[in-house]
Amino acid sequence: MHRAWKAAAVAAAMSLALSGCGEKKEAAEPVKLDARLADIYSHTCQTCHENAETGAPPAHDLAAWKPRLAQGESVLSDHIVNGFKGMPPLGQCIECSADDLLTLMKFMAAPAPEAAEEEKEH
Ligand code: HEC
Repeated sequence: MHRAWKAAAVAAAMSLALSGCGEKKEAAEPVKLDARLADIYSHTCQTCHENAETGAPPAHDLAAWKPRLAQGESVLSDHIVNGFKGMPPLGQCIECSADDLLTLMKFMAAPAPEAAEEEKEH
């Protein structure tokens, strides 16, 4: 009896700890780009995804990205590579690998790096 109770308590504590840190990561961790991807970003994705008139989900607008991400990575990859409505094939980045494109998408779907810095200061 006593041992079973203890095991259950440990399992509950572990799942609490796990879900706590998992949520934090998904919700608020900004994605950093290295210099090469930051350069690519500035002349491809950014021209549309930081310009509301294009109809693209704005970079770092988490609410706009939530339903997009809900489609799952395989649908998103297909839409990035082959294009989707106003979204051009490869996001106009012919030099990008599939990994590059997913990293760029995750960068846009995450909070802005500067915003996260500000949050830490408060
Ligand atoms: C010429 C403008 C343009 C460029 C450049 C561009 N996008 Fe897009 N993107 C769009 C538009 C417009 C949409 C919204 C399409 C829709 O749902 O109507 C979109 C949507 C998306 C979506 C969501 C697709 C979905 O299934 O909901 C992803 C992911 C995406 N873009 C990634 C990227 C990445 C990564 C880059 C840079 C490599 C990029 N885009 C460059 C215009 C652009």
